[in-house]
Amino acid sequence: MEIGELIYQGKAKSIYKSDNDDELIALFRDDMTAFNGEKHDQFSGKGVYNATVSAFFFDYLEKHGIKTHFIRMIDEKTMLVSKLEMIPLEVIARNRAAGSITKKLPLKEGQVLNPPVIVTDYKDDAKGDPAVNDDLILALGLLTRDELNEARRTTLEINKLLYDFFDELGLVLVDFKIEFGRRGNEIILGDEISMDSMRLWDKETGESFDKDVYRFNKGDVMTAYARVVEKIINWKKEQIK
Ligand code: C5P
Repeated sequence: MEIGELIYQGKAKSIYKSDNDDELIALFRDDMTAFNGEKHDQFSGKGVYNATVSAFFFDYLEKHGIKTHFIRMIDEKTMLVSKLEMIPLEVIARNRAAGSITKKLPLKEGQVLNPPVIVTDYKDDAKGDPAVNDDLILALGLLTRDELNEARRTTLEINKLLYDFFDELGLVLVDFKIEFGRRGNEIILGDEISMDSMRLWDKETGESFDKDVYRFNKGDVMTAYARVVEKIINWKKEQIK
């Protein structure tokens, strides 16, 4: 597989052309950033952890009927994906209150949100990713009414699948962020699903196994990420027993 021209450089991933116009190559780098890039470090092996976990979840979701951009791994930190026209929205699902929502609303850290809450931010670093509601998404022409319903339904389904999966591993899926893109007239899950874009707490102790470890200097972030990878590998071993 020839890696082509760099077409997009995100905070933790680089996207390259491939030898097929309908496919792209996503390289998960070792960069870790927080607070809109104000904090930035590199951790050897981080790209591999996030690529491994993302590939696992894309595959898991596909097996449960969710369409994703994942095609296959090229090497342990490089993924072949189908080309999407990305929609500049961050779709966040929350099962417990944590992070930004506890600063804006009278919700206590860890408070259960039942039913789960879905919020959307317009992706624009310079504007600090402002929150947008359904009417604004329609006014901005980002999604049609049908696509909006579809994205919401799919997000709730993904949330249920991931919540139940992590529950089995002894972890609480507090919240996560996903991004969608268009392929033809379909809305497809793109970007990544990793510890960078979710909050995971130990069910018993409340210990974090996600980017909050880095954001708030709660310990060694690579040890936390490695624990999640290890739990997933053990789960996979159990399945083939
Ligand atoms: O910042 P906030 O608390 O609203 O984040 C909610 C969830 O979405 C967290 O899991 C966070 O890691 C994720 N997120 C993200 N990228 C952003 C904003 C939030 O992955 N730009």
